[in-house]
Amino acid sequence: MVEKHEKENEARQFMSSVMASMSDVLLVCSPAGRIEEVNRALVKLLRRSEDELRGSALADLLAEDSILPPIKGMPQTQGPICCMEDCEMLLRGADGSIIPVAMNCTPRYDQHGEEVGYVLVGRPIGELRRAYEALHDAHEELKLTQRRLLHSEKMVALGRLVAGVAHELNNPISFVLGNVHALQRYTQRLKTYLDAIHDGADLGAREEMRQKFRIDRILEDIEPLIDGTMEGAERTQSIVEGLKRFSARDAEQTERFDLVGLVAKVVHWVVGSGPEKLEVISHMPEHLPTVGNSGQIQQVVINLLQNALDATAGQVSRVLEISGSVQGKWAVVAFHDNGPGIDPKHQTQLFDPFFTTKPVGKGTGLGLSISYGLVARHGGELSVANHPAGGAVFTLKLPLDAFVE
Ligand SMILES: Nc1ncnc2c1ncn2[C@@H]1O[C@H](COP(=O)(O)OP(=O)(O)OP(=O)(O)O)[C@@H](O)[C@H]1O
Ligand SMILES: [Mg+2]
Repeated sequence: MVEKHEKENEARQFMSSVMASMSDVLLVCSPAGRIEEVNRALVKLLRRSEDELRGSALADLLAEDSILPPIKGMPQTQGPICCMEDCEMLLRGADGSIIPVAMNCTPRYDQHGEEVGYVLVGRPIGELRRAYEALHDAHEELKLTQRRLLHSEKMVALGRLVAGVAHELNNPISFVLGNVHALQRYTQRLKTYLDAIHDGADLGAREEMRQKFRIDRILEDIEPLIDGTMEGAERTQSIVEGLKRFSARDAEQTERFDLVGLVAKVVHWVVGSGPEKLEVISHMPEHLPTVGNSGQIQQVVINLLQNALDATAGQVSRVLEISGSVQGKWAVVAFHDNGPGIDPKHQTQLFDPFFTTKPVGKGTGLGLSISYGLVARHGGELSVANHPAGGAVFTLKLPLDAFVE
């Protein structure tokens, strides 16, 4: 009898030493949710004494908005045995602080298989959660920064266009202005002539005025002057439309456009008007009809042209050959410059964001990575190779209009 008692004592001591050395919190309760046993980790975590905890209701330990384990409240305990895994419970510390804990709750049975309560084991997730939240915040911030970078890269490309566009606008605007000035002068003369007629000038005086003011010339001139003004105004409008499309926020807007016309326009704006002398040799078919967001493709072509300008900066005569063709279902345009080509060790990094060999302030290293993404979004491809005759070749492939799903 004494021996049995000793054995029981030993077993109890063994159990309590195991419980005491557990780093996870442990709590044993009755089917009604009354706490029967707690371990040291729980006492330490909640800063409540063992005596205070033992005998109290588990429900009293939980914060108001905690997820309820199935044992909280009497009715639930009558139902089938529930067990929960990795459930987040909010416990209340002695000082009222809320302590989130990831708990596993399993039923406990006696030797006859009768349910006699529950065992809850868990660990505080405050640290984990804080780290997760910090990670989440950092991720959100990164996404925002990336959006800003994409936007600022687009603005840089837009800035490159502006010089060309200003030049382009200057032409039609100056001849619209010239025409309007002429029309203004003509109006004055016509008005004087008509006033004289209305005032009853005789035939001789009329004829004299008609000669003096060159009324017949004016009448001949008016129509072409108005036509020219209209044309100039329309050209201005289409340039502005093109720019508006480029800076449009609606990135998903798609339309039919001709890649040949787009490349020609961008070459004209970026290379044609710049101070740098880059000879552009164009071998383009008449049309390369495709579908997509022409503003985005414009941005890609501007980047390729700007890179070609930078790459050929050290050459005595700088050449960019642009060749377009239809290859199966693709509209293909290759940009071959006579720069130094791509260093083989950079080949795999070229399209990585922020990869640049340009000095600080000159390149962000985003041009190609953004272009790559934009082209991929159009179902196309942007690739690079070195030309056997020297220089880099960037190939832009977009699905032909007829093949766009
Ligand atoms: N035509 C080219 N010839 C040789 N190297 C090129 C050419 N185009 C791009 N590269 C290389 O690829 C790098 C990345 O180009 P990318 O357009 O992505 O960035 P960037 O031109 O350096 O900067 P950003 O376009 O953002 O102003 C360049 O720094 C350059 O080293
Ligand atoms: Mg670039």
